[in-house]
Amino acid sequence: MTDAIDLATPAPGRRATRLFPATLGRFDDPADRAVVDGLVRWVERQFRADLQERPSKHVYVRTLPAEAIGRIDALRDSPLIAAAILRAFPPGHAITAMKWTDELYISHYNKDLGGDQGLFSRHYDGNLRFVGYGAVVRALIYLQSDDTYKVVFHDSGVERAFTDYEFGLLDFHRELHWVEGRYDPADRQRILLKCNYMVTPNPNGLAARAVLWANTGVFAVVKAAMEYSKSPRNPAQRFVGLLCNLFRLLNNLHPLVPLVLIAGVLAAGGYLLLRWASPA
Ligand SMILES: [Fe+2]
Repeated sequence: MTDAIDLATPAPGRRATRLFPATLGRFDDPADRAVVDGLVRWVERQFRADLQERPSKHVYVRTLPAEAIGRIDALRDSPLIAAAILRAFPPGHAITAMKWTDELYISHYNKDLGGDQGLFSRHYDGNLRFVGYGAVVRALIYLQSDDTYKVVFHDSGVERAFTDYEFGLLDFHRELHWVEGRYDPADRQRILLKCNYMVTPNPNGLAARAVLWANTGVFAVVKAAMEYSKSPRNPAQRFVGLLCNLFRLLNNLHPLVPLVLIAGVLAAGGYLLLRWASPA
């Protein structure tokens, strides 16, 4: 088990459809810290070249060797994190770990108007905050980090310059947040895990499975676009990077705005195609 030092504790008994309040914590148990240290050493060995590079690198945890996944499981399935999440929900809610979406983030923030620029921009991680059933909570688990940047969780009024062994939990869809700090292209490397958890009253029910499916599908499309455009070099990458940043801004207005825009473009394209294909 782990010792917990919660640096910000949410009020108990909040309704699931409301904002999950950003919650800070830290692994203090020597056994947990040994797992973190071992994982950092493994990442430094495995990704030596990537750690020298810019921009940042996101790797899906599910693609890593079993040795690394075992260590990551010890952290992402930690009772410390589970308790910090469930404390904010009414009794009877359960966590479904969204392991397919979990990522290892390696190295440096970058600021180049590409798909990764959004770390510095005000943004929501997800775009399904109009879905009122359950919540998705993201854990940022800092394996190696210094305090040169801070993360601002605006809706919860919480901010933190995360250092080694600390974690932050935020509402994936409902927390407006951003990274603050003077951008330094020569900053030190940082290594963190981004793990996602769906919280619902009935994890095996149809509604929960539909929400899980929607979250996973949207996540896969958005991440593919961000990865493709995160350091744009050709016109197609620059265009997708522009779309990433435009949709992020529109999502800040309302999550349905980018969806309506996509539907409008598809409808207009279909209409033009039909007109072109039909005889005059
Ligand atoms: Fe974010």
